[in-house]
Amino acid sequence: MAIRLGDEAPDFSADTTEGPVKFHEYLGDGWGILFSHPKDFTPVCTTELGGFAKRKAEFDKRNTKLIAVSVDSVESHNRWRSDIDETQGTALNFPIIGDEDHKVADLYDMIHPNANDTLTVRSVFIIAPDKKVKLTLTYPASTGRNVDEIIRVLDSLQLSAKFPVSTPVDWKDGEDVIISPAVSDADAKEKFPKGFRKVKDYLRYTPQPNK
Ligand code: BEZ
Repeated sequence: MAIRLGDEAPDFSADTTEGPVKFHEYLGDGWGILFSHPKDFTPVCTTELGGFAKRKAEFDKRNTKLIAVSVDSVESHNRWRSDIDETQGTALNFPIIGDEDHKVADLYDMIHPNANDTLTVRSVFIIAPDKKVKLTLTYPASTGRNVDEIIRVLDSLQLSAKFPVSTPVDWKDGEDVIISPAVSDADAKEKFPKGFRKVKDYLRYTPQPNK
């Protein structure tokens, strides 16, 4: 069954390029991103893994662990990783799950038979410290994901987990945010000492509170 926002991220044990992993244990008490790749030794996937590896420090800074999955074996992933190093100019620095039996792909509904009946789509799941799924994204095999967008939404999720705010269209870290309509003006004055700008009763902007 499809995984929906707010569901608990299914736990699993799997072999990876960094040894056996129990998913929830691997995530610990931080955030996590599980993302699927249709197949080893394919061009778009090679660029994506390099792209995420290059930005790993930014995920570390956000207390967020990365883990990829592809329906090939760990042995195949290990042969592929030298191509990633060579062509993307970076070493792979997070685990890739070997999922030949589609255990993880099925658990997370990553195979969409009307797109392809054996390969996964490009799924992304962002998981909060309470193991609840906070974001799902699905891209086709032909479109590589955008690491900036994934970091942007992670920043938004982490911010709204701490403060009663949401983030407007095209928001980026450092820009003004929207105060939750559930917060009264009187409470907003206390909670947001930098002040707020009221455009409508339901649309109030305040400077990003953790900056
Ligand atoms: C790719 O990563 O380029 C790819 C993977 C599977 C199917 C098509 C393209």
